[in-house]
Amino acid sequence: MYKEIKARPLPDRLLKLNGISARTIKEHYKLYEGYVNKANEARAKLEQVDLAKGNATYSDIRALKRGESYALDGVKLHELYFAELGGKGKPGGDIVKAIQSQYGSYDRFLAEFRGAGLSGRGWAVLALDPEWEELFIYITDDQHNGHVIQSVPILPMDVFEHAYYIDYGTSRGEYIDAFFRNLDWTVINQRYAQTKKAIRPRFRIFG
Ligand SMILES: [Fe+2]
Repeated sequence: MYKEIKARPLPDRLLKLNGISARTIKEHYKLYEGYVNKANEARAKLEQVDLAKGNATYSDIRALKRGESYALDGVKLHELYFAELGGKGKPGGDIVKAIQSQYGSYDRFLAEFRGAGLSGRGWAVLALDPEWEELFIYITDDQHNGHVIQSVPILPMDVFEHAYYIDYGTSRGEYIDAFFRNLDWTVINQRYAQTKKAIRPRFRIFG
């Protein structure tokens, strides 16, 4: 019933980043593979569990559903994260125009995003809601909590310690600076354009 998720290969360019070491990336990729495996495991078990025995305090289906979403969000966020790294860190294009329009300036956006990155326990995410046509910066502490529903992540930044501790110890701010130095804004612009295209009419009751 569920299709098997397959880990995407680690591109070589990620082993030559500016300020994020190959060792960090290799260790980080192993965690990503772990999320893929656990998502598949949870989905396989969902096909066998007694679905009639759901219970909000504890039940097998509850444990599997919470584990499944945690693992799936881990897979998806890391795929976005790895794909957006390997660039020259030069912001530009329509996404920057949208950022300037919404936040007043790129620097104001960067300050809020950086502050969110220093404050999150898992991820800071820039996401676009294609219906509201609004950007959101949100923090998701444990990877599957804190999202703004219907918004699509276009720039997620991993701030779990595994993303930077080998290279920077507790100096998370230095990692955030390195993250931005390696961003590929072409990729972020592609996500922005594709997400914008997904604009749908509002539900009739509000129309
Ligand atoms: Fe991570």
